[in-house]
Amino acid sequence: MQVIIDTDPGIDDAIAILYALRHPGVEVLALTTLGGNVGLNVTTRNAGRIVTLAGVPTPVHPGANAPLGREARSETAIHGDDGLGGVVFPEPALAPSDEPAVEAMARLLRAAPEKTIDLHCLGPLTNIALLLEAAPDAAARIRRVIAMGGAIDEPGNMGPRAEFNIAHDPDAAARVFSAELDITLIPLDATRQLRADAAYLETLRATGTEAAVACADLIDAYFTQTEHQAKGSESRPLHDPCVPLLACHEELFRTEDRSLEVELETGALDPGPNPIRVAMGLDADALRARLRDGLAG
Ligand code: BDR
Ligand code: CA
Repeated sequence: MQVIIDTDPGIDDAIAILYALRHPGVEVLALTTLGGNVGLNVTTRNAGRIVTLAGVPTPVHPGANAPLGREARSETAIHGDDGLGGVVFPEPALAPSDEPAVEAMARLLRAAPEKTIDLHCLGPLTNIALLLEAAPDAAARIRRVIAMGGAIDEPGNMGPRAEFNIAHDPDAAARVFSAELDITLIPLDATRQLRADAAYLETLRATGTEAAVACADLIDAYFTQTEHQAKGSESRPLHDPCVPLLACHEELFRTEDRSLEVELETGALDPGPNPIRVAMGLDADALRARLRDGLAG
């Protein structure tokens, strides 16, 4: 499958990208970046660092620095000032492209046969909303959108019912949800089921590949004191890796057809008119094994 990854790396974004870049069944055409977990300059540099470590030359196109008409909020408390938890990555081998994210997405979508390119969205949906506005003909050629975001029955992580990627830019999410795209959303209800403990990190390190060892270091950085205490040494949820994992192993997820809309004040998801497939559960043991095997391969 051919994919464009839209991302704000981000510790868990980095793990998702490394998995996708190494998967033989996934061709990553481009990374498009945006400000989210940290500012745009940092996420763009991180995207370049990640593709350099993976050794898979992939263009990086900078996108939106801030949400549509709102103040940007960052998540440096979780991801660190550098967005990658202080884990050592090489400097980017290539400079970011001069072509902005939306233009690159439109060009790639127009050049490929219709409904052959998927979007993997690991951050707020700002770039996708801007694509819909600037190039609706190109957006209509997207085969499928898989996005990490939202909280359905689970409590949110940016308020009682709001999750970061949606709450950071609810206006963008609302536009994307109502655009009649084929969307699969992976909310906290599913992603909180995929965590890693210290023993799993050892199995990653034992593979000896640079990507797997980097992911072990990233997950290590993702442990926090409070999570250690609350979760008996399990890491924070591996939110974004669920996106390429669902693309490659959909049978390991339990999906439901829902009808949703975005509550613009808070970014919570309510029942509404937009049909969206939602992942509500997953087989964590099997997915951890697939993730490790992918990073080791
Ligand atoms: C989402 O927010 C970010 O901090 C993570 O990278 C993930 O995309 C989880 O709510
Ligand atoms: Ca992210």
